[in-house]
Amino acid sequence: MKVLIADALEKAGIDGLKACGCEVIERPGLKDAALLAALKETRCGVLVVRSTKVTGGMLRGAPALELVVRAGSGIDTIDMDAATQAGVRVCNCPGMNAVAVAELTIGLMIALDRQIVDETDDLRHGIWKKKEYSKARGLKGRTLGIVGMGRIGFEVAKRAAAFEMRLIYSDVVPNERAEREFGVRKVSFDELLETSDFVTLHVPGGADTRHMIGRMQLARMKPTAYVINCARGGIVDEEALADAIESGKLAGAAMDVYEIEPAASEREFKDPIPKVPHVYGTHHVGASTEQAQSAVAEEVVRIVRAYKDSGELLHCANPPEAVVA
Ligand code: MLT
Repeated sequence: MKVLIADALEKAGIDGLKACGCEVIERPGLKDAALLAALKETRCGVLVVRSTKVTGGMLRGAPALELVVRAGSGIDTIDMDAATQAGVRVCNCPGMNAVAVAELTIGLMIALDRQIVDETDDLRHGIWKKKEYSKARGLKGRTLGIVGMGRIGFEVAKRAAAFEMRLIYSDVVPNERAEREFGVRKVSFDELLETSDFVTLHVPGGADTRHMIGRMQLARMKPTAYVINCARGGIVDEEALADAIESGKLAGAAMDVYEIEPAASEREFKDPIPKVPHVYGTHHVGASTEQAQSAVAEEVVRIVRAYKDSGELLHCANPPEAVVA
């Protein structure tokens, strides 16, 4: 089976695919027309991608393509309707980077409370402001509102419980295990917004969650509260967020993901939100620890091996009725 890898994948993943008998074609950085051309030219049956977008044109234009594996948890970079219509299966690697994303979320929460980025920036400019930076509110007893209690939300709750925070969450389905193990309480989305000191988002991207945090939601939050988005760009209306912070209606925010994100091969960052004071930004690196990327690579191999050996689809994201043999 021919496997085209269009993004960087850990060496263990490449070796694992070769070890299970696949012919591996490594072309990290391929995108748009060049990726479509490579799909046609190589006639690969499997495509492995991370950040690279997989469009309807690619899915329709590559008749040999059977399976797309997303080396990550989100599938919002893949045109799922087109994949299903073209009979292409899409599998992802859910949970493999949940701990990594949770660790960054907690890091950003502490950074916001202690203003670590501004403190560092001042020191780099030779400025000492001990008095001004001695006003952190502290985390113990503060309320953390977790929007989405899936695998990542669960790992966030687990870590925040150790800080003795008050934990609440909103989700369409209850997570009884998280409630039992960490004392996290399910509340309505409105109650979460109104009572949280930090609101952290752990829901998938896409049309259903676009601007889930918009002007109306921000207006419900406490002026001392912070928003943390390590999930997907677009879940937060960034213009509304900037307005809320600049007008003193929200204390600040931390973002790992943005409405305008450059492709992996581009270096220029155009999204204005991290320039807003009291907004801390990272470079969509929530999933990017060695541990998480090794786990993702192993999962990619497991998915491809299962499909190659028996046609079994692990973590298939197409609608179930579409994948009945
Ligand atoms: C994910 O969906 O798992 C991550 O966003 C992957 C990534 O960092 O590209």
